[in-house]
Amino acid sequence: MTRIGIVAEPAGENRVAVSPATAARIITLGYTVSVERGAGAASSFPDDAYAAAGATLVDRGTAWAADVVLAITPPAPADIARLRAGATFVGLLSPALRPELLEQLAARGVTALALDAVPRISRAQSMDVLSSMANIAGYRAVVEAANEFGRFFTGQVTAAGKVPPAKVLVAGAGVAGLAAIGAASSLGAIVRATDPRPEVADQVRSIGGQYLEVVVPEEQKEVSADGYAKATSEAYDRRARELYSEQAADVDIIITTALIPGRPAPRLITAADVAAMRPGSVVVDMAAAQGGNVEGSVAGERVVTANGVVILGYTDLAGRLPQQASQLYGTNLLNLLTLVTPGKEGVLALDLDDVVQRAVVVARDGEVTWPPPPVQVSAAPAAASASAGPAAPAGPARRRLSTRAQTGLATAGIAVLFLVCAFAPPPLPQHFLVLTLSVVVGFSVIGKVAHALHTPLMSVTNAISGIIVIGAMLQLTSDQLIVQLLAAVAALVASINIFGGFAVTRRMLAMFRRGDAS
Ligand code: NAI
Repeated sequence: MTRIGIVAEPAGENRVAVSPATAARIITLGYTVSVERGAGAASSFPDDAYAAAGATLVDRGTAWAADVVLAITPPAPADIARLRAGATFVGLLSPALRPELLEQLAARGVTALALDAVPRISRAQSMDVLSSMANIAGYRAVVEAANEFGRFFTGQVTAAGKVPPAKVLVAGAGVAGLAAIGAASSLGAIVRATDPRPEVADQVRSIGGQYLEVVVPEEQKEVSADGYAKATSEAYDRRARELYSEQAADVDIIITTALIPGRPAPRLITAADVAAMRPGSVVVDMAAAQGGNVEGSVAGERVVTANGVVILGYTDLAGRLPQQASQLYGTNLLNLLTLVTPGKEGVLALDLDDVVQRAVVVARDGEVTWPPPPVQVSAAPAAASASAGPAAPAGPARRRLSTRAQTGLATAGIAVLFLVCAFAPPPLPQHFLVLTLSVVVGFSVIGKVAHALHTPLMSVTNAISGIIVIGAMLQLTSDQLIVQLLAAVAALVASINIFGGFAVTRRMLAMFRRGDAS
């Protein structure tokens, strides 16, 4: 049976690759699990909890000598020597930045799986540790900023005076940025955000932020073909610099998360911008490890500027929530293990024809297998994909009617209405008029409701079916059988619509309801 080893991380890394709950689920895949003693201590997972989950506690050498070793940080040279030839190592390997490490692992005959190389495609989301860690880090960046900031985030009116809300600027609205926006706005701050990808504007607004668009001429706009930002244009950078200078003088907290894959972090906030901030302001540079978005930030350090602004360049933000981070990292790992254990019999079977598995395997059979062939990611905005290929028959690219055609149709409609009113027998014109007006009012009201709200709107307005039920009940006493039958069918169908509508609404509202506090 294949043995999985969970090793203790080096000093300074508080996370552990697998929590006790995840260890229990790995065992259900048919593996035996050995955990290095003390591996979970810094994440508040005691050895007993692993033993209770069915794992065996072992010493360091035994954990590293397992068939499959699960870790977070890349192995140190001494640990590579502990790995058995033919073993599999799974962890964060930064393959693009550490070619020599991949060479060493390949030379040792180790199959290396880099969890940080999971492609950002929908199918692989459940294994995407960079996203799950960035989500935690974005939240923690706000917590760190709040810890340094000498005021409330939320505005208050108290007997002792009025407190204005803090203003937070988040630069870069990717995974970390969105988490920061959500956390800061839930603390009550006024949150603004920038990002060169205009498609994130709705996401920013949906979690309580205000999207600040960097307005540049149409032809110089960024087009994201794959959901990631490209290097920004000269015109964009110029306008963005002005925007950041304006904002720096106004906001209390800046959190920067800007990243363009495969490049050093773009410099967004200059020393002059920081100098223009009020004393007591806080800047968190989440990209400090990649060179920094903020001039003056130091990776891993807290810096206080001459004008009293604190710049945090912490690179271990996710690790500052070790229990949460370990739990999510472990779940990502478990999802990868489930993918590579198709038989659930404790046998790891890699399928290199699968794009996700091919992307994560960076060394195998003595060879470095990085980089993998490119993967088409699914985060591309709809408009970009529509313009890339032949015109789609339907969807967002559908053309609107010209003004002339619209006028023509409206004139024809009014003419029909006039003819019906003039020549139809008495009750029909009134009914037709009411129907026409209902259609016009319905279109203009529902047309203004955001798409996301259509389902709840329709399910609630299905209560209109109640009117049909009343009408049908009045007709049930008719002396004509056909009218009675039609009335019965109408009452039945409308009732289904009413109760179905309320059931759908109830289910949707339940999705947004907070669980019991217990
Ligand atoms: P992501 O790729 O999801 O988001 C990056 C965002 O930056 C994208 O939305 C992109 O459009 C935007 N961007 C690119 N150029 C920009 C520019 N010039 N101005 C404004 N925005 C720009 O990346 P993710 O996962 O959110 O990570 C963000 C950063 O946080 C990365 O640098 C990552 O390494 C770092 N990070 C830091 C941690 C820490 O402990 N300090 C932990 C986790 C992530």
